[in-house]
Amino acid sequence: MIDILSDGRLFHLKTRHTSYVFFANPVGRLEHIYYGKRIEDVASILCRHGRQYPASFCPMRQDESSDQGPDILPQEYSGFNSGDMRIAAVAATGPDGACWTDPRFVSHRLTDTKRPLNGLPHAFGNAKGENLEITCRDAFTGLEIILLYSVFEECDTLTRSAIITNLSPAPIQLNRVMSGQLDVMGKQELEMVDFQGSWCRERTAERVPLRHGLQATGSTRGATGHVNTAATVLCEKTTTETQGEAFGFVLEYSGNHYEGIELTQFDMVRVQLGIHPDFFSWKLEPGASFETPEMAMTYSAEGFGLMSRNLHDFMRGHLIRSPWNGKRRPILINNWEATFFDFNTQKILDIARVAATIGIEMLVLDDGWFGHRDDDRTSLGDWFEFRSKIGDMKELADSIHALGMKFGLWFEPEMISEDSELYRAHPDWVLCVPNRPRCYGRTQLILDFSRPEVVQHLYDVMAGLIARAGIDYIKWDMNRNMSDIFSSPLPADQQGEVPHRYILGVYALHERLIQTFPNLLIEGCSGGGGRFDAGMLYYLPQIWCSDNTNAIDRLRIQAGTSMIYPVASMGAHISTQHTTARFIPFETRGNVAMAGTFGYELDLTKLTEEEKATAIRLNAAYHRYHDVISEGDYYRLTDAFRDNPVEAWCCTSKDQSQAVLTVVRRTHFGNVLNTPIFPVLGLDPKRHYRLVNDAVPSEKQQVFPGDLLANMGLWCQELGHNDCDSIVYFFEAID
Ligand code: DGJ
Repeated sequence: MIDILSDGRLFHLKTRHTSYVFFANPVGRLEHIYYGKRIEDVASILCRHGRQYPASFCPMRQDESSDQGPDILPQEYSGFNSGDMRIAAVAATGPDGACWTDPRFVSHRLTDTKRPLNGLPHAFGNAKGENLEITCRDAFTGLEIILLYSVFEECDTLTRSAIITNLSPAPIQLNRVMSGQLDVMGKQELEMVDFQGSWCRERTAERVPLRHGLQATGSTRGATGHVNTAATVLCEKTTTETQGEAFGFVLEYSGNHYEGIELTQFDMVRVQLGIHPDFFSWKLEPGASFETPEMAMTYSAEGFGLMSRNLHDFMRGHLIRSPWNGKRRPILINNWEATFFDFNTQKILDIARVAATIGIEMLVLDDGWFGHRDDDRTSLGDWFEFRSKIGDMKELADSIHALGMKFGLWFEPEMISEDSELYRAHPDWVLCVPNRPRCYGRTQLILDFSRPEVVQHLYDVMAGLIARAGIDYIKWDMNRNMSDIFSSPLPADQQGEVPHRYILGVYALHERLIQTFPNLLIEGCSGGGGRFDAGMLYYLPQIWCSDNTNAIDRLRIQAGTSMIYPVASMGAHISTQHTTARFIPFETRGNVAMAGTFGYELDLTKLTEEEKATAIRLNAAYHRYHDVISEGDYYRLTDAFRDNPVEAWCCTSKDQSQAVLTVVRRTHFGNVLNTPIFPVLGLDPKRHYRLVNDAVPSEKQQVFPGDLLANMGLWCQELGHNDCDSIVYFFEAID
């Protein structure tokens, strides 16, 4: 709900448990006032509003007697070089060469429906009237700045973005434009959670106290990247999974991103998310507009757990558009870790035949089926069958379909090999700086997706093959990051636009494919989880979480990922774990993969009879637990910031009728108590729950009250004592 008070100058955005308040002050600066636990009536909020009078090192405008120094004022969207010396939300160079911006409030507008962003991910489906547009102007530079706010009441989430329009008669250069900003006041000793990583170590949650000055995470890799995800969290020193304040911020964007947190000299904290200002500029012609990506933010007074559940509900309910969202995905077998490039039709069909007998529902043919690709040095861009290896794609798809399975195919649409027909036909289609040496990653180059003709070509060849062969799923990979960024058709003063134009091209291709094939299941991927972000989730419902499929390493990766993203979006498979050598029981590999979109990535023809029996059991368990795990509420029961000797999480259905508790023993130390106890959270304290055990008749199964399970917890006495043992408990309400 949005309340507008004080003659249209005080704005109160309310969700179920939160309030967000800001004010257009007498000189038109948008002052941020409050973000936190819900307050019903904020009308009196301004009568004891703090006024600060700074030293001369915080500049003040002499013509603004009622104004307090802009360098101290908590601001909704700060300018540049006009008195606020902290990180700026918008910086632009006007026709006179002055790099100076100063947004001032002009008007507000409540709208019934949320304004869509052109060609960019944006949330949808909030209630009528929950959208606020605040128009500001920088009359001197000639910019109009519309700040968009939307309220998603039931999941305590707000979205923000900005539209910048050039009202002047000459071009203006945008140098920096953030999606949103939050100035947090009155909080002592805040900490920041970021999600750092690398290939095979994605989204490792790391918690550090804020220090004075700027601490920023982000990416200038042309993609979200493995190193930092496009999200950040602020919390109190004492925040845990269940207690304390946590602010979660997520950018719905897949390119260069920036999460800046500045702890100022006056102990205020400014948070900004947006397109990374390095390698960004945008030339705004007179009358033209620039739309920023959207950012989502949530506040939890009950720790990281609720913060994550808010974000999960927001993404599942308001961002992921795929018809597969909320539906059980087919259990898949992907041949990559089974064969790498070394396969032929016979090998693939052998794997598929075993898959069909143990309840696997889809075969995904990974890298190596196209051009003449037998290794990673060739053929990217040639999206037609490698006939001597796999024959005709339609015939192969028909054979898989005849086994009662779906058929999926790997693509890496944005890449090109120099050894390819596409490169020989269009050498100018690659991103590269003329007269400079090129960087290669995995011997490949990047197609210039800022060019519409490149996107059109990819659409034609991909859509043609998907339609001709009857493909049910595609895995969209991206195996290197951007360097040598230069687009030959663009003039010199627009080269700073290339990284963003590239992402718009990627989104455009996604959009066309999902419009043409609405039921196509698409899995995102970038060398594992190098482009795992909320922007991608607008186009596809799941993303391969990491190339590290070692179930024990995955514990940390999946816990960090779950801080922000729903488990239903995390690709997770049982594999032989080629990136590490640790032995992990098949059952544990399955129990960990089940906390994601479940599948297999190993040579099924080599499974023992015992492993096949376990796979059949795991597949049945996946069917049984899916709705609770994927659509329920997710609770981390162990510390996501370290490797715990025993890890646990539980998922509880929204109607509180079922819960799944998973416990994994990472390592067994000598002389420690062996039986852990974990609460089962989210249950109805007044109901009773049966601990389902198919080995005994239901009347003999143990029954526990919900409050006992939540408060005392369950002794996990069936958990084995060896390293990497695991157990899954399933509870069903009986009343
Ligand atoms: C990287 C992906 O993460 C893998 O799963 C696999 O698809 C390879 N690329 C294929 O080249």
